[in-house]
Amino acid sequence: MRTRDLLRIVPGLSRLVRTLDSRERESRLLTEECRRLANENHRLKAPSRTKRTAPRPSPAVAVEEVAELPPDVLRLMVAGTDDAEWFVTAGRRAAESLTALLAKNGIVIEECASVLDFGCGCGRVIRHLRHLPAELHGCDSNPVAVDWCAENLPFGQFAVNALESTLPYDADSFDLVYALSVFTHLPPNLQAHGMRELHRVLKPGGALVISVHGDALASRLTRAERMDYRAGRLVVRGGDLAGTNHCAAFHPPPFVRGPFASGFEVLDLAPEGATGNPPQDAWVLRKK
Ligand SMILES: C[S@@+](CC[C@H](N)C(=O)[O-])C[C@H]1O[C@@H](n2cnc3c(N)ncnc32)[C@H](O)[C@@H]1O
Repeated sequence: MRTRDLLRIVPGLSRLVRTLDSRERESRLLTEECRRLANENHRLKAPSRTKRTAPRPSPAVAVEEVAELPPDVLRLMVAGTDDAEWFVTAGRRAAESLTALLAKNGIVIEECASVLDFGCGCGRVIRHLRHLPAELHGCDSNPVAVDWCAENLPFGQFAVNALESTLPYDADSFDLVYALSVFTHLPPNLQAHGMRELHRVLKPGGALVISVHGDALASRLTRAERMDYRAGRLVVRGGDLAGTNHCAAFHPPPFVRGPFASGFEVLDLAPEGATGNPPQDAWVLRKK
């Protein structure tokens, strides 16, 4: 029997075929979009040709860092590139810009007694803060990354947290929490949950620094997404891949100042100021 006859005599079959076709098309589009975002992520994070000619770390520093680098596959999974030099230099830049941004807002990182790296990945940033007198903590939803940190970064304490559960810390625990390139990968409900949790674990008056995709990336949004963004609404792609680099969120400044940072005072916005996580905006918030 020919397909055309089959479609005619079996009730609902042609509707089913149309639905399956459309699902397949959506799935293909999503896969392409994920691939494009992963490539984009890699391109943004890979050192540019001009950066390659910039001064490199001294061999002594490079050797010391290489000795404790996470494996390639883990760097790729967390950072979107396995480039060892980028991992070390951009991680250092992230720690330096965090320190400088806090100082600009009157917060001396050396005076913080307890610090949490929320979404610490495989320790790209916290490794550059090991000189601090603070009790250093890192948490992440990726157990492989947390295991690596726990085994290789003895200066910190590391814990796994599920995306939607409460963080394994008491209320009012930290003077400083930073979340670099974390809210960039969460859908709206998990953004709100994460912010509520960070508010809970911060001490009153404690500082929160986050990095997000802001105006610098608005031109890369589709027309419909850009309209939402310009209207001050959070834009999220790949929300069903929450917490991974395949989910990409874009935070317009009015959204951060409004519902996102409720319970916080906004101290500062540094457009593209998260220099170790380019080209993301850095925000400094204070728990009210
Ligand atoms: C792009 S990586 C950035 C890692 C690190 N902050 C850095 O700058 O190198 C995002 C990390 O956030 C983690 N993550 C995403 N959502 C999270 C959540 N709600 N709680 C804890 N970790 C989360 C991911 O597992 C991943 O390791």
